[in-house]
Order: sequence, then C-alpha cells, then structure tokens
Amino acid sequence: MKTDSASIQKRYDRLAPYFDVIEAMMEGLVFKTWRKRLWAKVEGEHVLEVGVGTGKNFDYYPEEARITAIDFSPGMLKQAADHKQRKGIEVELAQMDVQSLCYADNSFDTVVATCVFCSVPAPVKGLRELHRVCKPGGQVLLLEHVLSSRPLIAKVMNFLNPVVVKLVGANINRNTLRNIKAAGFNSVRVDEQSGDIIKLIEARK
Ligand SMILES: C[S@@+](CC[C@H](N)C(=O)[O-])C[C@H]1O[C@@H](n2cnc3c(N)ncnc32)[C@H](O)[C@@H]1O
Repeated sequence: MKTDSASIQKRYDRLAPYFDVIEAMMEGLVFKTWRKRLWAKVEGEHVLEVGVGTGKNFDYYPEEARITAIDFSPGMLKQAADHKQRKGIEVELAQMDVQSLCYADNSFDTVVATCVFCSVPAPVKGLRELHRVCKPGGQVLLLEHVLSSRPLIAKVMNFLNPVVVKLVGANINRNTLRNIKAAGFNSVRVDEQSGDIIKLIEARK
C-alpha cells in the first residue's frame, strides 16, 4: 500500500468536498470541546496551524493573533478558503508540506495541529519541523488520536489500520507522544483530561 505524501495528498483532495459531513458526528460529540480547550492554551501573537483541512479550527482562532495556516492538499485548502470567505476569518492560507516548511527557524509563538500527525507519512520529520519554526520558549499544541495503551484494543487498531489508511489516509495506530518526545522539545506533557486514545499534547521548546 502506498503511503507516500503524493498518495495521501490525493486521498485528502478526493475527500475534501465530503470531509465535514463525514466527520460531523465525531465533531459534535468529541472534537468541538477539545478544540475549545486547545485554543484556550494558545499563547503569543504569531500562530501557525499545520494541516488546516477545511478550517474546523477557524471558530476558535483568538482575535488578537496573526495566524498562518498550511495544508498540502489543494482540495482541503479550497474548502478552507471558501470557509474563510464565508466567515470573514483573518488567516493567511498556504499550500505546504509540514515535513518541509518554508518558514525561518524560530518564527512562531505557538504551532497547532489537530488530527494531522495520524496521516503525515514521516511524523517525526514533521514534528522536528514544528520544533524548528517554533520560537525558543514557544509551544506546540497537538490534538491527536493515538494507539490505545490497552493491549487488546491496540491489537484491533493495528489490525484495522491498513483498511483505515486505504479509506481515509489516516493511521489509527500512531504513537504521537513518543514521536514528539523524539523531536527535541524541552518538555512534553499531556493535558490531564485526555483519554486513552484522544490526547491533547503540549510541547515546549
Ligand atoms: C484529518 S484532517 C484534519 C484537518 C483539520 N486539522 C481538522 O482538525 O479538522 C488531516 C489534514 O492534514 C493534512 N495533512 C496531512 N499530511 C500533511 C502534510 N504532510 N503536510 C501538510 N498537511 C498535511 C491533510 O491534507 C488534511 O487536511
């Protein structure tokens, strides 16, 4: 099975027009609350959102921040651009791969990613890029679903993973906590309200 950047990008391009509908139930039941909690932790003036998708975080952007948002899928970015126009959101959108960001070192006060590192082909490479563009003392906030710590559930998730990747380009068996620890941050902590599978991770450079 192909899991390179080009094929994942194409998968998101195809999904883009239906993405919000497909995710509507999980969004309402689970992610809405977590997005609010994550964006309440955002600090500083200059914020980068990676893997912006259709712009589901737009409603939570702090008014005082200057926000840049990237995604490698033109299809998802088109949905985000429409959303931006509809809601009059102040955000600079750009097409870019999180594994090779075009920003200078130490550019952003906070970097945010929600449900992104399940599909980045080389997650540690992408997380090192977030570390590089984050200012010293700045933070990276991730909202991610990860592999369960319960052996039986983990076994089922590992078994189902190839099918889920084929359908939606996302891995359900990533160890994003271990990956971010490998990316060079000074401290990494998990929000205490996180569950076994959905984690709000706060990393400080
Ligand atoms: C599951 S969607 C989540 C979208 C949005 N963050 C949200 O919370 O609804 C994953 C997004 O990450 C983007 N993405 C995945 N890998 C990427 C990469 N290597 N570089 C940039 N964007 C990427 C996809 O195109 C897609 O828009």
